[in-house]
Amino acid sequence: MANNFEYYSPTRVLFGKGCEREAGKLAKEYGATNVLIVYGGKSAIRSGLIQTVGESLDEAGIRHQELGGVVPNPHLDKVYEGIRIGKREHVDFLLAVGGGSSIDTAKAIAYGLAEPEKDVWELFAQERTAEKCLPVGSVLTIAAAGSETSKGCVITNEMTGEKRAYDDNLARPVFAVMNPEYTKTLPDYQTQAGCVDIMMHTMERYFTNGGNMEITDALAEGLLRTVMKNAQILHNDPANYEARAEVMWAGSIAHNDLTGCGNDGGDFMSHKLEHEMGGMFDVTHGAGLSAIWPSWARTVYKDALPRFVRYARNVMGITAEASEEEIAFMGIAAMENFYHSIGMPVNFRELGIEPTDEQMEEMAKGCLRASGGRTGSARRLTLEDMVGIYRAANGK
Ligand code: NZQ
Ligand code: ZN
Repeated sequence: MANNFEYYSPTRVLFGKGCEREAGKLAKEYGATNVLIVYGGKSAIRSGLIQTVGESLDEAGIRHQELGGVVPNPHLDKVYEGIRIGKREHVDFLLAVGGGSSIDTAKAIAYGLAEPEKDVWELFAQERTAEKCLPVGSVLTIAAAGSETSKGCVITNEMTGEKRAYDDNLARPVFAVMNPEYTKTLPDYQTQAGCVDIMMHTMERYFTNGGNMEITDALAEGLLRTVMKNAQILHNDPANYEARAEVMWAGSIAHNDLTGCGNDGGDFMSHKLEHEMGGMFDVTHGAGLSAIWPSWARTVYKDALPRFVRYARNVMGITAEASEEEIAFMGIAAMENFYHSIGMPVNFRELGIEPTDEQMEEMAKGCLRASGGRTGSARRLTLEDMVGIYRAANGK
């Protein structure tokens, strides 16, 4: 049955070759007079994108400064640095050039500048909600997190090892500029981790016990099949523009809530379990997701059996006649085979981490705290379930 829903996806998207040159014009339309460009390591400099974006802002007559050095699993100290620069320079618009880490850093700076008397970490610590946020735009260089159209923002407090999300429509970017050409320089590991993340954003919404719509399921299943197909193409042919384009657009619609309309908001426990792994071990988000998902799935599949059977049939192409439980299991195994086919891990050993029992308990406790009472829809996980999932991923 379909639940009531609100679908709010205000981000204006410019997609395709050359669209990065429009960034300045777009920023101007959204009122920018003084922009902080936020980017990561060297990839956006090497590709010439930072220069191109800067020139396009110059052409639009917009002042700008740069804040580089955002790392994957982006740090709170970079957010504070951006807020200091923003206050000093009277920044009124944030333009992220990069992936989820740069976009989320820009969003967090935008929250911080809009309410300068408050500590922005309070949002991530669930101590308050935001009342305002400066406008954010993005020029995307990796298809993965979907932050370019999402309400999500994920920051790691590197002092405490806590990686925490804050979700709010206020930070949905006003525009996203997406030229798939720029994603061709990604290492295969990042491309594939991105594909896992994209799929997981839709799978988190798919494996629920709370309402469904046929149209939503059809969109979700089509998106998953498309990403799987094109991830495999890119594994062998990384310069394939068509495949880059398919994956890039999928990344946005996988996480702008389109593939969750009519359900109860989804499960999202694989994400929450992974965020603890990212905070403690600094793993690549998508690789962390593929390493934890099979253990999560084998723990909860009986609680959402019709969804797991449907997934096995419609996404993984399982045609065998068997019991529903067996079919669900075949679907999970097929998913693991797919992850392996694109070089992604399906357990902690393959991910390259070896948490101790104490660390797994600490992650489970952190996950429970961060969940704020929302511990899943396929099944509401207990602390013991979470420890069990980590142990299963660890091969114990
Ligand atoms: O820093 P640079 O040099 O740019 O290198 C980056 C980085 O090492 C590299 N890269 C990006 N574009 C490239 C490139 N290398 C070569 N060519 C290019 N065109 O890729 C690496 C990863 O970048 P990052 O921005 O970290 O990737 P991603 O988009 O996967 O973002 C991950 C972050 O987003 C969060 C994750 O938890 C993680 O912190 N998420 C944010 C969400 C949201 N805001 O809605 C939802 C997600 O579930 C996720 O949690
Ligand atoms: Zn994700």
